[in-house]
Amino acid sequence: MVNIPKGTKDVLPYDSYKWHAVYKVIDKLAKRYNLKEIMTPTFEHTELFVRGVGDSSDIVNKEMYTFLDKGERSITLKPEGTAGVARSFIENGLFNNAMPLKTYYKTPCFRYEKPQAGRLREHHQFGVEMFGSDNPESDIEIFMLLNDFFNEFGISPTFSINYLGCKECNTVYKDKLRGYVKPYLKNMCPDCNNRYEKNVLRVLDCKSRECQSMLVDAPKLSDNLCTSCAEKFDKIKQTMQDLGLKFRIDTNLVRGLDYYTGVVFEILNIDKTSGQTALGGGGRYNNLVEDLGGKSTPVVGFGLGIERFILYLESIGYVFPEENNVDVYVASATDNMSFILNLAKLMRNAGLGVETDLMARGLKAQFKYADKLSCRFVVIVGEDEMNAGEVTVKDMKASTQERIKECQLVQYILERL
Ligand code: HAM
Repeated sequence: MVNIPKGTKDVLPYDSYKWHAVYKVIDKLAKRYNLKEIMTPTFEHTELFVRGVGDSSDIVNKEMYTFLDKGERSITLKPEGTAGVARSFIENGLFNNAMPLKTYYKTPCFRYEKPQAGRLREHHQFGVEMFGSDNPESDIEIFMLLNDFFNEFGISPTFSINYLGCKECNTVYKDKLRGYVKPYLKNMCPDCNNRYEKNVLRVLDCKSRECQSMLVDAPKLSDNLCTSCAEKFDKIKQTMQDLGLKFRIDTNLVRGLDYYTGVVFEILNIDKTSGQTALGGGGRYNNLVEDLGGKSTPVVGFGLGIERFILYLESIGYVFPEENNVDVYVASATDNMSFILNLAKLMRNAGLGVETDLMARGLKAQFKYADKLSCRFVVIVGEDEMNAGEVTVKDMKASTQERIKECQLVQYILERL
Protein backbone atom coordinates (compact mmCIF):
# COMPACT_ATOMS: atom_id res chain seq x y z
CA MET A 1 0.00 0.00 0.00
CA VAL A 2 1.17 3.54 -0.74
CA ASN A 3 0.84 5.75 2.31
CA ILE A 4 0.11 9.46 2.61
CA PRO A 5 3.23 11.69 2.30
CA LYS A 6 4.78 12.85 5.57
CA GLY A 7 3.36 16.12 6.86
CA THR A 8 0.07 15.89 4.95
CA LYS A 9 -3.39 15.01 6.25
CA ASP A 10 -6.62 13.57 4.90
CA VAL A 11 -9.79 15.34 5.93
CA LEU A 12 -12.05 12.36 6.44
CA PRO A 13 -15.76 12.32 5.51
CA TYR A 14 -16.74 12.33 9.17
CA ASP A 15 -14.48 15.28 10.01
CA SER A 16 -15.16 17.60 7.11
CA TYR A 17 -18.10 19.18 8.94
CA LYS A 18 -15.53 20.97 11.11
CA TRP A 19 -13.99 22.56 8.02
CA HIS A 20 -17.44 23.49 6.74
CA ALA A 21 -18.20 25.22 10.05
CA VAL A 22 -15.05 27.33 9.67
CA TYR A 23 -15.65 28.04 5.98
CA LYS A 24 -19.24 29.10 6.72
CA VAL A 25 -17.98 31.74 9.14
CA ILE A 26 -15.43 32.93 6.56
CA ASP A 27 -18.19 33.35 3.96
CA LYS A 28 -20.39 35.14 6.49
CA LEU A 29 -17.60 37.60 7.27
CA ALA A 30 -16.87 38.09 3.57
CA LYS A 31 -20.44 39.40 3.23
CA ARG A 32 -20.20 41.59 6.32
CA TYR A 33 -16.88 43.16 5.28
CA ASN A 34 -17.43 43.24 1.51
CA LEU A 35 -14.52 40.91 0.79
CA LYS A 36 -14.25 39.48 -2.72
CA GLU A 37 -12.78 36.01 -3.18
CA ILE A 38 -9.61 35.65 -5.21
CA MET A 39 -8.21 32.33 -6.40
CA THR A 40 -4.64 32.13 -7.66
CA PRO A 41 -2.74 29.07 -8.92
CA THR A 42 -1.29 26.48 -6.58
CA PHE A 43 2.11 26.97 -8.22
CA GLU A 44 3.92 30.07 -9.43
CA HIS A 45 7.31 30.93 -10.88
CA THR A 46 9.87 30.46 -8.09
CA GLU A 47 11.13 34.00 -8.59
CA LEU A 48 7.82 35.41 -7.32
CA PHE A 49 8.41 33.98 -3.85
CA VAL A 50 12.12 34.77 -3.82
CA ARG A 51 11.34 38.41 -4.62
CA GLY A 52 8.09 38.54 -2.67
CA VAL A 53 8.56 36.54 0.51
CA GLY A 54 12.27 37.38 0.59
CA ASP A 55 15.55 35.52 0.56
CA SER A 56 16.21 36.02 4.26
CA SER A 57 13.09 34.07 5.20
CA ASP A 58 13.19 30.41 6.26
CA ILE A 59 10.38 29.81 3.78
CA VAL A 60 12.50 30.74 0.78
CA ASN A 61 15.78 29.40 2.17
CA LYS A 62 14.67 26.03 3.43
CA GLU A 63 11.04 25.24 2.95
CA MET A 64 9.93 25.68 -0.64
CA TYR A 65 8.72 22.83 -2.82
CA THR A 66 10.62 23.84 -5.94
CA PHE A 67 11.09 21.82 -9.10
CA LEU A 68 11.83 22.20 -12.78
CA ASP A 69 8.81 21.49 -14.95
CA LYS A 70 9.07 19.71 -18.30
CA GLY A 71 9.83 23.05 -19.96
CA GLU A 72 12.79 23.57 -17.58
CA ARG A 73 11.02 26.41 -15.73
CA SER A 74 11.62 26.72 -12.00
CA ILE A 75 8.23 26.30 -10.38
CA THR A 76 7.29 26.48 -6.68
CA LEU A 77 4.16 25.26 -4.89
CA LYS A 78 2.86 28.31 -3.07
CA PRO A 79 4.24 28.45 0.47
CA GLU A 80 1.81 31.29 1.35
CA GLY A 81 -0.97 33.26 -0.30
CA THR A 82 0.13 36.89 -0.33
CA ALA A 83 2.72 36.92 -3.13
CA GLY A 84 0.35 35.26 -5.63
CA VAL A 85 -2.44 37.70 -4.82
CA ALA A 86 -0.06 40.66 -5.21
CA ARG A 87 1.11 39.27 -8.56
CA SER A 88 -2.48 38.89 -9.69
CA PHE A 89 -3.30 42.44 -8.56
CA ILE A 90 -0.57 43.78 -10.85
CA GLU A 91 -1.00 41.38 -13.76
CA ASN A 92 -4.78 41.80 -14.00
CA GLY A 93 -4.79 45.57 -13.50
CA LEU A 94 -6.88 45.21 -10.35
CA PHE A 95 -5.47 48.59 -9.29
CA ASN A 96 -7.92 50.12 -11.81
CA ASN A 97 -10.80 49.21 -9.47
CA ALA A 98 -12.16 51.61 -6.89
CA MET A 99 -10.00 51.31 -3.79
CA PRO A 100 -9.88 49.78 -1.30
CA LEU A 101 -9.97 46.36 -2.94
CA LYS A 102 -10.61 43.81 -0.24
CA THR A 103 -9.77 40.26 -1.28
CA TYR A 104 -9.90 36.98 0.59
CA TYR A 105 -8.85 33.43 -0.16
CA LYS A 106 -8.83 29.89 1.13
CA THR A 107 -5.80 28.14 -0.21
CA PRO A 108 -3.50 25.18 0.30
CA CYS A 109 0.10 26.17 1.13
CA PHE A 110 3.20 23.99 0.98
CA ARG A 111 6.23 24.26 3.23
CA TYR A 112 8.91 21.64 3.70
CA GLU A 113 8.93 21.84 7.50
CA LYS A 114 9.61 19.27 10.21
CA PRO A 115 6.11 17.93 10.76
CA GLN A 116 4.57 17.99 14.23
CA ALA A 117 1.13 18.68 15.71
CA GLY A 118 -0.15 21.77 13.92
CA ARG A 119 2.86 21.96 11.60
CA LEU A 120 2.28 20.37 8.24
CA ARG A 121 3.93 20.25 4.84
CA GLU A 122 0.59 21.02 3.25
CA HIS A 123 -1.65 23.33 5.25
CA HIS A 124 -4.54 25.61 4.36
CA GLN A 125 -4.94 29.29 5.00
CA PHE A 126 -7.82 31.70 5.18
CA GLY A 127 -6.24 34.96 4.10
CA VAL A 128 -7.30 38.55 3.51
CA GLU A 129 -5.39 41.16 1.53
CA MET A 130 -6.76 44.70 1.57
CA PHE A 131 -5.28 46.89 -1.16
CA GLY A 132 -5.20 50.66 -1.54
CA SER A 133 -5.36 52.28 1.89
CA ASP A 134 -2.44 53.37 4.03
CA ASN A 135 -4.74 54.69 6.75
CA PRO A 136 -4.84 53.12 10.21
CA GLU A 137 -8.58 52.56 9.60
CA SER A 138 -7.65 49.70 7.26
CA ASP A 139 -5.25 48.17 9.82
CA ILE A 140 -8.06 48.36 12.36
CA GLU A 141 -10.56 46.83 9.95
CA ILE A 142 -8.26 43.79 9.68
CA PHE A 143 -8.17 43.49 13.49
CA MET A 144 -11.96 43.88 13.69
CA LEU A 145 -12.49 41.23 11.05
CA LEU A 146 -10.24 38.71 12.78
CA ASN A 147 -11.78 39.57 16.12
CA ASP A 148 -15.25 38.91 14.67
CA PHE A 149 -13.99 35.64 13.19
CA PHE A 150 -12.83 34.39 16.59
CA ASN A 151 -15.95 35.76 18.31
CA GLU A 152 -18.09 33.59 16.02
CA PHE A 153 -16.53 30.60 17.83
CA GLY A 154 -16.98 32.17 21.25
CA ILE A 155 -13.32 33.22 21.53
CA SER A 156 -11.98 36.64 22.36
CA PRO A 157 -8.50 36.80 20.80
CA THR A 158 -5.48 38.78 22.00
CA PHE A 159 -3.33 40.28 19.27
CA SER A 160 0.44 40.39 19.77
CA ILE A 161 1.41 43.52 17.89
CA ASN A 162 4.50 45.44 16.85
CA TYR A 163 5.33 48.17 14.37
CA LEU A 164 8.16 47.79 11.85
CA GLY A 165 8.19 51.35 10.53
CA CYS A 166 8.80 52.96 7.19
CA LYS A 167 11.96 52.70 5.05
CA GLU A 168 13.53 55.73 6.78
CA CYS A 169 13.14 54.70 10.41
CA ASN A 170 13.81 51.10 9.47
CA THR A 171 17.17 51.98 7.92
CA VAL A 172 18.25 53.87 11.04
CA TYR A 173 17.03 51.09 13.32
CA LYS A 174 18.65 48.31 11.30
CA ASP A 175 22.01 50.11 11.57
CA LYS A 176 21.59 50.35 15.35
CA LEU A 177 20.63 46.68 15.61
CA ARG A 178 23.54 45.60 13.42
CA GLY A 179 25.88 47.57 15.68
CA TYR A 180 24.41 45.84 18.74
CA VAL A 181 24.46 42.33 17.26
CA LYS A 182 27.93 42.40 15.65
CA PRO A 183 30.01 41.57 18.76
CA TYR A 184 27.73 38.58 19.52
CA LEU A 185 27.70 37.15 16.00
CA LYS A 186 30.41 34.53 16.48
CA ASN A 187 28.31 33.00 19.30
CA MET A 188 25.03 33.19 17.44
CA CYS A 189 23.49 30.45 15.27
CA PRO A 190 24.30 30.17 11.53
CA ASP A 191 20.76 31.37 10.69
CA CYS A 192 21.30 34.58 12.65
CA ASN A 193 24.63 35.12 10.90
CA ASN A 194 22.81 34.79 7.60
CA ARG A 195 20.00 37.09 8.79
CA TYR A 196 22.56 39.66 9.90
CA GLU A 197 23.65 39.94 6.29
CA LYS A 198 20.27 39.73 4.57
CA ASN A 199 17.69 41.20 6.95
CA VAL A 200 18.96 41.89 10.42
CA LEU A 201 15.41 42.43 11.79
CA ARG A 202 14.83 38.68 11.53
CA VAL A 203 17.51 38.10 14.20
CA LEU A 204 14.92 39.31 16.73
CA ASP A 205 12.67 36.46 15.72
CA CYS A 206 15.24 33.65 16.26
CA LYS A 207 13.83 30.70 18.20
CA SER A 208 17.22 29.69 19.69
CA ARG A 209 17.34 30.40 23.45
CA GLU A 210 21.04 31.22 23.25
CA CYS A 211 20.52 33.84 20.56
CA GLN A 212 17.54 35.25 22.44
CA SER A 213 19.60 35.62 25.62
CA MET A 214 22.09 37.79 23.72
CA LEU A 215 19.30 40.02 22.45
CA VAL A 216 17.81 40.98 25.81
CA ASP A 217 19.34 44.46 25.73
CA ALA A 218 19.01 44.99 21.98
CA PRO A 219 17.56 48.35 20.90
CA LYS A 220 13.77 48.13 20.51
CA LEU A 221 11.94 48.89 17.30
CA SER A 222 9.20 50.76 19.13
CA ASP A 223 11.78 53.19 20.62
CA ASN A 224 13.20 53.94 17.20
CA LEU A 225 10.20 54.87 15.08
CA CYS A 226 10.09 58.21 13.25
CA THR A 227 7.43 60.69 14.40
CA SER A 228 4.97 59.78 11.67
CA CYS A 229 5.28 56.00 12.29
CA ALA A 230 5.10 56.48 16.07
CA GLU A 231 1.91 58.54 15.62
CA LYS A 232 0.36 55.88 13.39
CA PHE A 233 1.21 53.11 15.87
CA ASP A 234 -0.22 55.21 18.74
CA LYS A 235 -3.41 55.77 16.78
CA ILE A 236 -3.76 52.05 16.10
CA LYS A 237 -3.22 51.17 19.77
CA GLN A 238 -5.63 53.86 20.96
CA THR A 239 -8.35 52.78 18.53
CA MET A 240 -7.90 49.12 19.44
CA GLN A 241 -8.35 50.08 23.06
CA ASP A 242 -11.44 52.20 22.26
CA LEU A 243 -13.00 49.30 20.35
CA GLY A 244 -12.21 46.69 22.99
CA LEU A 245 -9.75 44.80 20.76
CA LYS A 246 -7.35 43.04 23.14
CA PHE A 247 -3.64 43.39 22.39
CA ARG A 248 -0.20 43.20 23.90
CA ILE A 249 2.94 44.72 22.47
CA ASP A 250 5.70 42.29 21.51
CA THR A 251 8.77 44.36 20.66
CA ASN A 252 10.53 41.34 19.12
CA LEU A 253 7.74 40.40 16.76
CA VAL A 254 9.01 40.89 13.20
CA ARG A 255 7.30 37.92 11.44
CA GLY A 256 9.04 35.35 9.28
CA LEU A 257 8.43 36.98 5.91
CA ASP A 258 10.42 39.91 4.57
CA TYR A 259 7.66 42.05 3.07
CA TYR A 260 6.21 43.75 6.16
CA THR A 261 6.58 47.51 6.64
CA GLY A 262 4.12 48.81 9.27
CA VAL A 263 2.00 47.17 11.90
CA VAL A 264 2.58 43.40 12.30
CA PHE A 265 0.64 40.99 14.47
CA GLU A 266 0.02 37.40 15.48
CA ILE A 267 -2.67 35.58 17.41
CA LEU A 268 -0.95 33.00 19.57
CA ASN A 269 -2.20 29.80 21.08
CA ILE A 270 -0.22 29.22 24.23
CA ASP A 271 -0.44 25.53 25.00
CA LYS A 272 1.17 24.02 28.10
CA THR A 273 2.35 20.89 26.29
CA SER A 274 3.11 21.96 22.72
CA GLY A 275 4.28 25.49 23.59
CA GLN A 276 3.40 28.55 21.58
CA THR A 277 2.04 28.45 18.07
CA ALA A 278 0.57 31.17 15.90
CA LEU A 279 -3.00 30.59 14.80
CA GLY A 280 -2.74 33.51 12.42
CA GLY A 281 -0.60 36.48 11.61
CA GLY A 282 -0.13 39.33 9.22
CA GLY A 283 0.47 43.01 8.89
CA ARG A 284 1.04 45.90 6.54
CA TYR A 285 3.29 45.56 3.52
CA ASN A 286 3.44 48.78 1.50
CA ASN A 287 6.41 47.92 -0.75
CA LEU A 288 5.57 44.47 -2.06
CA VAL A 289 3.42 45.50 -5.04
CA GLU A 290 6.10 47.93 -6.20
CA ASP A 291 8.89 45.40 -5.56
CA LEU A 292 7.05 42.95 -7.81
CA GLY A 293 6.88 45.51 -10.62
CA GLY A 294 3.55 47.22 -9.91
CA LYS A 295 2.55 50.77 -9.01
CA SER A 296 3.28 51.59 -5.36
CA THR A 297 0.21 50.38 -3.42
CA PRO A 298 -0.29 50.12 0.34
CA VAL A 299 -1.68 46.76 1.51
CA VAL A 300 -2.54 45.12 4.79
CA GLY A 301 -3.59 41.54 5.37
CA PHE A 302 -3.32 38.32 7.31
CA GLY A 303 -3.28 34.54 7.00
CA LEU A 304 -4.85 32.08 9.42
CA GLY A 305 -4.04 28.36 9.44
CA ILE A 306 -7.23 26.33 9.15
CA GLU A 307 -5.73 23.07 10.52
CA ARG A 308 -4.20 24.88 13.49
CA PHE A 309 -7.43 26.73 14.15
CA ILE A 310 -9.48 23.51 14.10
CA LEU A 311 -6.94 21.79 16.41
CA TYR A 312 -7.23 24.76 18.74
CA LEU A 313 -11.05 24.64 18.70
CA GLU A 314 -10.89 20.92 19.50
CA SER A 315 -8.46 21.56 22.35
CA ILE A 316 -10.83 24.02 24.02
CA GLY A 317 -13.77 21.62 23.60
CA TYR A 318 -15.61 23.66 21.00
CA VAL A 319 -18.67 21.78 19.78
CA PHE A 320 -18.88 22.02 16.00
CA PRO A 321 -22.40 22.17 14.60
CA GLU A 322 -23.25 18.70 13.28
CA GLU A 323 -24.33 18.32 9.70
CA ASN A 324 -27.18 15.95 9.14
CA ASN A 325 -27.74 15.74 5.44
CA VAL A 326 -30.27 12.94 5.45
CA ASP A 327 -33.86 13.96 6.15
CA VAL A 328 -35.58 10.96 4.65
CA TYR A 329 -34.69 7.31 4.11
CA VAL A 330 -36.82 5.51 1.54
CA ALA A 331 -37.04 1.87 2.62
CA SER A 332 -37.92 -0.32 -0.26
CA ALA A 333 -39.82 -3.60 -0.10
CA THR A 334 -40.45 -3.72 -3.82
CA ASP A 335 -38.49 -4.53 -6.97
CA ASN A 336 -39.86 -1.43 -8.67
CA MET A 337 -36.65 0.60 -8.67
CA SER A 338 -38.15 3.37 -10.83
CA PHE A 339 -40.93 4.02 -8.33
CA ILE A 340 -38.46 4.32 -5.44
CA LEU A 341 -35.99 6.49 -7.32
CA ASN A 342 -38.75 8.74 -8.61
CA LEU A 343 -39.93 9.30 -5.03
CA ALA A 344 -36.36 10.15 -4.03
CA LYS A 345 -36.08 12.52 -6.99
CA LEU A 346 -39.29 14.38 -6.07
CA MET A 347 -38.08 14.88 -2.51
CA ARG A 348 -34.52 15.85 -3.51
CA ASN A 349 -35.90 18.40 -5.98
CA ALA A 350 -37.78 19.92 -3.06
CA GLY A 351 -34.42 20.35 -1.29
CA LEU A 352 -34.64 17.38 1.07
CA GLY A 353 -31.68 15.10 1.83
CA VAL A 354 -32.75 11.62 0.75
CA GLU A 355 -31.13 8.18 0.91
CA THR A 356 -32.43 4.99 -0.67
CA ASP A 357 -31.16 1.44 -0.59
CA LEU A 358 -28.13 1.01 -2.85
CA MET A 359 -26.95 -2.22 -1.18
CA ALA A 360 -29.86 -4.59 -1.91
CA ARG A 361 -30.49 -4.94 1.83
CA GLY A 362 -33.50 -6.61 3.34
CA LEU A 363 -36.11 -4.39 4.97
CA LYS A 364 -34.83 -5.02 8.51
CA ALA A 365 -31.27 -4.14 7.55
CA GLN A 366 -32.55 -1.01 5.81
CA PHE A 367 -34.28 0.12 9.02
CA LYS A 368 -31.05 -0.47 10.92
CA TYR A 369 -29.11 1.60 8.38
CA ALA A 370 -31.75 4.37 8.46
CA ASP A 371 -31.35 4.40 12.23
CA LYS A 372 -27.57 4.86 11.85
CA LEU A 373 -28.17 7.80 9.54
CA SER A 374 -30.41 9.28 12.25
CA CYS A 375 -32.76 10.62 9.63
CA ARG A 376 -36.02 12.15 10.74
CA PHE A 377 -38.35 10.24 8.39
CA VAL A 378 -38.43 6.74 7.00
CA VAL A 379 -40.72 6.26 4.01
CA ILE A 380 -41.73 2.63 3.51
CA VAL A 381 -42.78 1.41 0.11
CA GLY A 382 -44.13 -2.14 -0.31
CA GLU A 383 -46.10 -3.70 -3.16
CA ASP A 384 -49.31 -3.03 -1.27
CA GLU A 385 -48.63 0.71 -0.85
CA MET A 386 -47.41 1.04 -4.43
CA ASN A 387 -50.55 -0.50 -5.92
CA ALA A 388 -52.65 1.93 -3.91
CA GLY A 389 -50.46 4.94 -4.92
CA GLU A 390 -49.58 5.41 -1.28
CA VAL A 391 -46.56 5.30 1.06
CA THR A 392 -46.10 4.75 4.78
CA VAL A 393 -44.23 7.54 6.58
CA LYS A 394 -42.58 6.96 9.94
CA ASP A 395 -41.73 10.16 11.82
CA MET A 396 -38.83 9.03 14.03
CA LYS A 397 -38.97 12.14 16.21
CA ALA A 398 -42.70 12.16 16.86
CA SER A 399 -42.81 8.32 16.92
CA THR A 400 -45.82 8.29 14.61
CA GLN A 401 -46.59 6.29 11.50
CA GLU A 402 -49.10 7.24 8.80
CA ARG A 403 -50.12 5.96 5.41
CA ILE A 404 -50.57 8.84 2.96
CA LYS A 405 -51.07 9.44 -0.76
CA GLU A 406 -47.79 9.38 -2.66
CA CYS A 407 -48.57 12.81 -4.17
CA GLN A 408 -48.84 14.33 -0.66
CA LEU A 409 -45.45 13.03 0.50
CA VAL A 410 -43.24 16.06 -0.19
CA GLN A 411 -45.71 18.48 1.37
CA TYR A 412 -46.21 16.17 4.37
CA ILE A 413 -42.50 16.08 5.15
CA LEU A 414 -41.80 19.76 4.49
CA GLU A 415 -44.59 20.74 6.89
CA ARG A 416 -43.10 18.64 9.69
CA LEU A 417 -39.36 19.26 9.30
P1 HAM B 1 2.44 32.98 8.17
O1 HAM B 1 2.56 33.50 9.55
O2 HAM B 1 3.65 32.39 7.57
O3 HAM B 1 1.95 34.20 7.28
O4 HAM B 1 1.27 31.92 8.06
C1 HAM B 1 -0.03 32.25 8.47
C2 HAM B 1 -0.61 31.13 9.32
O5 HAM B 1 -0.58 29.92 8.58
C3 HAM B 1 0.18 30.81 10.59
O6 HAM B 1 -0.17 31.67 11.65
C4 HAM B 1 -0.27 29.38 10.86
O7 HAM B 1 -1.50 29.35 11.52
C5 HAM B 1 -0.44 28.81 9.47
N1 HAM B 1 0.75 28.02 9.09
C6 HAM B 1 1.91 28.45 8.60
N2 HAM B 1 2.76 27.42 8.38
C7 HAM B 1 2.10 26.31 8.73
C8 HAM B 1 2.42 24.91 8.73
N3 HAM B 1 3.59 24.46 8.31
N4 HAM B 1 1.47 24.03 9.17
C9 HAM B 1 0.27 24.45 9.59
N5 HAM B 1 -0.09 25.76 9.60
C10 HAM B 1 0.81 26.68 9.19
C11 HAM B 1 1.73 34.13 5.96
O8 HAM B 1 1.74 33.12 5.32
C12 HAM B 1 1.38 35.49 5.37
N6 HAM B 1 1.11 35.29 3.93
C13 HAM B 1 0.18 36.11 6.07
C14 HAM B 1 -0.19 37.43 5.53
C15 HAM B 1 -1.17 37.68 4.63
N7 HAM B 1 0.38 38.59 5.81
C16 HAM B 1 -0.19 39.56 5.11
N8 HAM B 1 -1.12 39.02 4.40
